[in-house]
Amino acid sequence: MPSIHSLAFIFFLFPLFIFSSLAVDIKNYGAVPDGETDSTEALQKAWTDACETENDGATIEIPEGSYLIGPVMFKGPCKSPNLSIHLAGALLAKEDLNLYKPNWIEFQYINGLNLYGPGKMDGRGGAAWAKNGCRQTDKSDCKTFPMNMVFSFVNNASISGITSIDSKYFHVMVFSCKNITIDSVTVTAPGDSPNTDGIHIAGSENVLVQSSTIGTGDDCISVGDNTVNLNVTGVTCGPGHGISIGSLGRYPNEQDVVGLTVKNCTFNGTLNGVRIKTWQNGPKYLEVRDLVFENITMNDVDTPIAIDQKYCPSRTCPSNLKPSRVKISNVQFNNITGTSAGKTAISIVCSDSFPCDDVQLDNIDLRYNGPGEADATCINVKPKIIGTVNPVDCAS
Ligand SMILES: *[C@@H]1O[C@H](CO)[C@@H](O)[C@H](O)[C@H]1NC(C)=O
Ligand SMILES: *[C@@H]1O[C@H](CO)[C@@H](O)[C@H](O)[C@H]1NC(C)=O
Ligand SMILES: *[C@@H]1O[C@H](CO)[C@@H](O)[C@H](O)[C@H]1NC(C)=O
Ligand SMILES: *[C@@H]1O[C@H](CO)[C@@H](O)[C@H](O)[C@H]1NC(C)=O
Ligand SMILES: *[C@@H]1O[C@H](CO)[C@@H](O)[C@H](O)[C@H]1NC(C)=O
Ligand SMILES: *[C@@H]1O[C@H](CO)[C@@H](O)[C@H](O)[C@H]1NC(C)=O
Ligand SMILES: *[C@@H]1O[C@H](CO)[C@@H](O)[C@H](O)[C@H]1NC(C)=O
Ligand SMILES: *[C@@H]1O[C@H](CO)[C@@H](O)[C@H](O)[C@H]1NC(C)=O
Repeated sequence: MPSIHSLAFIFFLFPLFIFSSLAVDIKNYGAVPDGETDSTEALQKAWTDACETENDGATIEIPEGSYLIGPVMFKGPCKSPNLSIHLAGALLAKEDLNLYKPNWIEFQYINGLNLYGPGKMDGRGGAAWAKNGCRQTDKSDCKTFPMNMVFSFVNNASISGITSIDSKYFHVMVFSCKNITIDSVTVTAPGDSPNTDGIHIAGSENVLVQSSTIGTGDDCISVGDNTVNLNVTGVTCGPGHGISIGSLGRYPNEQDVVGLTVKNCTFNGTLNGVRIKTWQNGPKYLEVRDLVFENITMNDVDTPIAIDQKYCPSRTCPSNLKPSRVKISNVQFNNITGTSAGKTAISIVCSDSFPCDDVQLDNIDLRYNGPGEADATCINVKPKIIGTVNPVDCAS
């Protein structure tokens, strides 16, 4: 019978042996699940070894318990063609903002990644939010803070069963990625926490977000430029600002947004439901097209359906700006029902220069929660009306 000490000795001497048996346990690298011991280096080294192993299917194990973790960079390309991270425990972020350059947990240049729960990533953003000046009227103190998880240049990845808590800034960022599935994730932050967007997707293609629950202080899911083929289904949003495409049309290097479906979703008490927002005075022509918003329930949502091509968050924009140069076309709103908290349940304000084309409203029933009836505004757009659409104002 080998003693426990000699077993430990074998583990210590032959970590490669452990890799070929698939699991890379961060506790074997010195991580301590007490929520206090700095386990950053252990996690970082576990990644380096897992990434270097040529075996298929290396899995980093993060067992139950809480681990204090500073910024970590999971960078490829890796020799292993198929890496997994099994997050069973909870990662706790450090609060000192000076440590971050600039994000918390980053994944870069990886092909084939499977990050799965049921663990948590707690960004402990409370102290940082208080220093966020982005909501001041002059925004002079508007810095960006660390995001909980950033995926850039990552392909063929699945992220599932993870809970992201109280990020200091956006919770999840997907940038320049291909074929990503985000499934059964939970995102939580208080409704008044600044810039805590749930999932931001930009410059990416073939992304699926499904069966997830997102409550934050900002957008539930936001979609940046150059996004192609994104599906969102079975997502519950609230509190927060809803699902947004944009803002777009502000910078000269932006590319089109093409092919987005949002289906089977519920919005609960959000500021907007589904929204497209574009700036005026844009430097270049851009297209947003082939979008379907279908089978969506709105509960107490300020503006359930919104296209805003005069987007101006500060509300102090000059009145003589050139109309938006973003062309929006082929957008379907099908089967959207529930209640609005604002009187204007549908607000479709398109560009004077590039009116919206092929906008369809099919089976819409939105009722105002307050006194009187809900109304709808449609400017520079002639929507095709199918079935019963309430409020009716855009039909004429
Ligand atoms: C990747 O690894 C997982 C186990 O971690 C395994 O189930 C799967 O078959 C592997 N995929 C490929 C393409 O090798
Ligand atoms: C994704 O994986 C597929 C199947 O293994 C592979 O053919 C493809 O090249 C990968 N995609 C990218 C963008 O690496
Ligand atoms: C997409 O990625 C998954 C792994 O998450 C992989 O199994 C699948 O083959 C990829 N699909 C394509 C078309 O590359
Ligand atoms: C999105 O849905 C469309 C239509 O159902 C499908 O053709 C496409 O492959 C899906 N894309 C992703 C990334 O799930
Ligand atoms: C919407 O939900 C229905 C019933 O659960 C399901 O059959 C359908 O595939 C879902 N649609 C999408 C796009 O996930
Ligand atoms: C509509 O979405 C709800 C979830 O919000 C789902 O339960 C239902 O099955 C969906 N219906 C269809 C026809 O997709
Ligand atoms: C909607 O939000 C309210 C207020 O935050 C909450 O009480 C309620 O449980 C939520 N409903 C659902 C279905 O999530
Ligand atoms: C339309 O929405 C209602 C209520 O949410 C739902 O029961 C029905 O299945 C939906 N139908 C389609 C085709 O999405």
